[in-house]
Amino acid sequence: MPADPPSRLEPLEKGADGRRFSPSAARNREHIVAALEQMLPESGTCLEVAAGSGEHAALAAQRMPRWQWLATDRDDEALTSIEAWVQHVDLPNLKSFGCLDLNEAWSQATASINAVFASNLTHISPIETTAALFRGAAAHLERGGAVILYGPVFLPDRPRPESNVAFDAELRARAPSYGVRELGVIAALATKAGFASPVVREMPANNVMLNFGRR
Ligand SMILES: C[S@@+](CC[C@H](N)C(=O)[O-])C[C@H]1O[C@@H](n2cnc3c(N)ncnc32)[C@H](O)[C@@H]1O
Repeated sequence: MPADPPSRLEPLEKGADGRRFSPSAARNREHIVAALEQMLPESGTCLEVAAGSGEHAALAAQRMPRWQWLATDRDDEALTSIEAWVQHVDLPNLKSFGCLDLNEAWSQATASINAVFASNLTHISPIETTAALFRGAAAHLERGGAVILYGPVFLPDRPRPESNVAFDAELRARAPSYGVRELGVIAALATKAGFASPVVREMPANNVMLNFGRR
């Protein structure tokens, strides 16, 4: 199968210790982690897939000490950065989960998992990757678990924000299989894998958090 086009548009700064710093994560991580704190139960284990630099994972583990946070990606640079963030924050509840390509079997996902979280993935990967995420999550989540997604999504019966329309065009020009998704398209994949309709929470800069409970 041909490799996916690059799944990051912004350049990341790299620290001497291997940590990478994403400008968008610097802007959105406080909002994202605050929303996760409200959405998730008191304790559990979260598998963060496509975790990129690992900055969201590092902050989530700091803010939610009763959650075990397992951060993964499939990209070598991302995995190096995740490991560097794990070393940097040095918390017992943050671990690198090694390489996990969502399009392959989640062979190492033997831990008991209560939530699967992904930010900024659905628009910057082929839609099959989102389908695979839901299938993998359905196979590995504990009863009562949830998939939580963050990013730009077109909501039904709502005007399309200009910034997301422009972003969608930019993504599709780079890779026809990428693009800002319709909520209904993501929700249909979730339903097929056994998840309920999402609770939608609007976030700054025309992003959303989608919380799909496992039926
Ligand atoms: C735009 S970055 C988002 C990173 C981070 N979640 C954030 O919000 O800053 C997209 C990430 O998805 C990862 N990714 C893309 N396709 C993937 C796949 N099939 N399996 C696992 N990770 C994938 C890329 O390696 C990249 O780190």
